[in-house]
Amino acid sequence: MLTLRAPAKINLSLEVLGKRDDGFHELVSVVQSISLFDILSIEPAATISFQCTEPSLTENNIVEKAAVLTQQYFGIKDGALLHLKKVIPAAAGLGGGSSDAAATLLGLVRLWDLRATPEQLLQLASDLGSDVPYFLHGGTALVEGRGERVTKINNSRITWYVLVNPGFAVPTRTVFEELLPDEWTSGQPTRDMAEHFHDSRRGPNGFNGLQNALFRLYPEAMECFQKVDRIAPCGAFVSGSGPTVVASFTNKDDAITAQHAWSSMSYWTCVAATLATGGAVHTCDH
Ligand code: C5P
Repeated sequence: MLTLRAPAKINLSLEVLGKRDDGFHELVSVVQSISLFDILSIEPAATISFQCTEPSLTENNIVEKAAVLTQQYFGIKDGALLHLKKVIPAAAGLGGGSSDAAATLLGLVRLWDLRATPEQLLQLASDLGSDVPYFLHGGTALVEGRGERVTKINNSRITWYVLVNPGFAVPTRTVFEELLPDEWTSGQPTRDMAEHFHDSRRGPNGFNGLQNALFRLYPEAMECFQKVDRIAPCGAFVSGSGPTVVASFTNKDDAITAQHAWSSMSYWTCVAATLATGGAVHTCDH
């Protein structure tokens, strides 16, 4: 049996440059994987089947889609039993489903001993979703295009993050649909952040071009943001299409103290740190 850890991500900066002919948006984002994980177990089986600790996520799960796509693409006769322990909140702007899909691809490459080239993996990942290519690599990265152009950023600095989620799911598509052309930006601040990642003294502070569209759709998301922003030492930012709000800290104790304040407001909270090195998926021992 293989057991893989699929990390969450946060967007330290995210700009939308414009809308493309294929209906997707052109993005520039600095993305960071963090120490909050779903756990995916994969074992050999005659057919593909999927189980999840969260019953509402069992139907049409991206993990099962990733497995079927990989099986078809490589013409594999074997199946696999995939079991997902869901820890990362779903539809929260934390990339959980995309990370699960990347873990599935990478896990099945090992289980089925596939000779997959990086180009083939990138193709499969892009077909599964815009955030999936990033999770083939993880760490700190500049992500461009629809999400398929991923450039690693060297980062050895550990930052502690408190994640605060107001407890409802936000479909990414609805936030992109709400976005107005005058909320499109040049991408230069995000590229500057990527280029000067190590120069920033207090750590990069997030900008999110989707944030105002999210707040128009969900006033409760704005309320959550304001409550976090009010007492976060470096301010708060929304990750991805939200609604999870993030605050950065240079040490763990301060992060835990702040977490207590926000969890007493009945929000879901979690403390997680930068995953500074390596790929998105870590195989546990078995
Ligand atoms: O690629 P994914 O299925 O994760 O995207 C979900 C939705 O988010 C898309 O259907 C699209 O509406 C929107 N999206 C976008 N531009 C991107 C990524 C996502 O418009 N670069």
